[in-house]
Amino acid sequence: MHDVVDLRSDTLTTPTPEMRAAMAAAEVGDDVWGEDPTVKRLEARAAERFGKDAGLFVASGTMGNQVTVLTHTQPGQEVIADADSHVLSREVAGIARLSLCQTLPLSTARGLPTPEQVRASIRAKDIHFPVTGLIALENTHNRHSGTAFTPEEIAAVAAVGREHDVPVHLDGARIFNACVALRRDAREYGAAVDTIQFCLTKGLSAPVGSLIVGSREFIARARRMRKLLGGGMRQVGILAAAGLIALDKMVDRLAEDHVNARRLAEGLHGLPGIRVDLSRVQTNIVIFHVDRPGGVAELVEGCRARKVRVHASGPTSIRCVTHKDVDAEDIDRALAAIREITGTS
Ligand SMILES: Cc1ncc(COP(=O)(O)O)c(C=O)c1O
Repeated sequence: MHDVVDLRSDTLTTPTPEMRAAMAAAEVGDDVWGEDPTVKRLEARAAERFGKDAGLFVASGTMGNQVTVLTHTQPGQEVIADADSHVLSREVAGIARLSLCQTLPLSTARGLPTPEQVRASIRAKDIHFPVTGLIALENTHNRHSGTAFTPEEIAAVAAVGREHDVPVHLDGARIFNACVALRRDAREYGAAVDTIQFCLTKGLSAPVGSLIVGSREFIARARRMRKLLGGGMRQVGILAAAGLIALDKMVDRLAEDHVNARRLAEGLHGLPGIRVDLSRVQTNIVIFHVDRPGGVAELVEGCRARKVRVHASGPTSIRCVTHKDVDAEDIDRALAAIREITGTS
């Protein structure tokens, strides 16, 4: 049990004592010169985990996605993605500003475009049209309640890209939540797409960093793009040391977060003025809709007054995310707070 139950995001997790000790003891060198052994170990470990040739350590998930788009595309091309995907809707128009590409946002039911939708969106060769430069997918899908897609679902969309010679990138900020929830190996996702970005900072609890994995040739080019964006870091093995622990020791425990998210969703289900689709709660994210006179503000403020923090993810929706610093008792406290606010305690 914690003093404050903070369900706003899994990015709020703090590093474990083991991570802090590893950071203090990390063997380091200048990574721009290719001389940081701890970074090299992390990049190799990440690549191996996804069955790819090589990995690249970057500062954040946003940098991972944007470096990847920059490396895959040419200016003037078009990037296809779900309209609510992070890469399109939450990265400060990075695709337009950095890659000089336009985007084709697709409206989807659960966060993953269907193969037919993608096939219909790939541009024909015509003097008027942009060239389709990239298909970007997201798994798990943040704004669709952490929905998890199987490797087969991802591969079916990626196959359309392959048919048309269009590369496919997977924003796997929370890919290990998908692996754990669906009991699938990360390599199966690696085999389905050209590149994956995943975050060490969310459920895996490292303080900083993401990795891009892909072919050796792609990663060599991505390394130049990372430098262009000012992401060449020096004795960054201090951060990679925490990342190694995140990757080696924090993946399996994500199952607890999924159990807690389910507990929360089931407790919310049926409360007056609250609507939660239980079929969507597969991983560590619960998004529920509020239809009460006091709206979202009543719940956010009421929770805050009871030492429970939740995030207003939209004008009528609240997002709760479970993580290592939230346990089952905390979930019960959050539910008790919401029951009190809704007058059902
Ligand atoms: C699906 C997804 N992709 C990318 C990111 C970006 O990660 P960062 O905050 O490290 O830039 C996030 C962050 O929440 C995310 O949810």
